[in-house]
Amino acid sequence: MKLLHIDSSILGDSSASRQVSAAAVAQFRKKDPSVEVIYLDLASDPLPHLDVEALSWLGKDLTPDVSGRPELIAGAEALKTFQAADVVVIGVPMYNLSIPSQLKSWIDRIMVAGQTFRYGANGIEGLAKGKKVVLAVARGGLYGAGSPAASFEHQLSYLKSVFAMIGITDLTVIEAEGLATNGGADRARILSDAEQKASAL
Ligand SMILES: Cc1cc2nc3c(=O)[nH]c(=O)nc-3n(C[C@H](O)[C@H](O)[C@H](O)COP(=O)(O)O)c2cc1C
Repeated sequence: MKLLHIDSSILGDSSASRQVSAAAVAQFRKKDPSVEVIYLDLASDPLPHLDVEALSWLGKDLTPDVSGRPELIAGAEALKTFQAADVVVIGVPMYNLSIPSQLKSWIDRIMVAGQTFRYGANGIEGLAKGKKVVLAVARGGLYGAGSPAASFEHQLSYLKSVFAMIGITDLTVIEAEGLATNGGADRARILSDAEQKASAL
């Protein structure tokens, strides 16, 4: 089994989403010690924003004359690594109501027409079927259904759409939310609850 582990928090060792994604990966390793884990740290090793040249090469084999551009190679590898993974665990912080731009740059490399989805006769058809995706989501505030800020939530709702579009039906979400509410007094409990959920995967 191949597991792709992605972190995108800029907060290093203080990151909540890194803590929860690590607990999830540890659980997969526990269940299957032979699991092959590939780790991408999008904060320390970011993919650049998609530009027109990178767009023109998405999903194609790079020719020798462009293969000297490391960012094109990294983007092509991001797609191949995602396609080869059986399980994908992603640490997802909420930054400014959405996801980190580093994670968006990765999504821009894996949502590729003809590779992970296609425009069929009945609309969009996902081609990345059969994978399990686990999202370790962290947020300072509270955005649950019925809460005053529910309509401001563009982190998890966005990612659910992304993975649905490419054909992922096995999506597990572990949420650590409200980390900054109550002056951060509940942070340790919220994180511990999320880690326990990750350890029960
Ligand atoms: C740049 C930045 C922007 C943030 N924006 C939001 C926000 O819009 N809503 C929110 O609830 N929390 C926000 N937070 C708090 C984070 O969601 C919270 O710190 C969470 O733990 C981030 O995940 P991480 O610790 O893995 O980086 C923000 C934090 C940072 C650093």
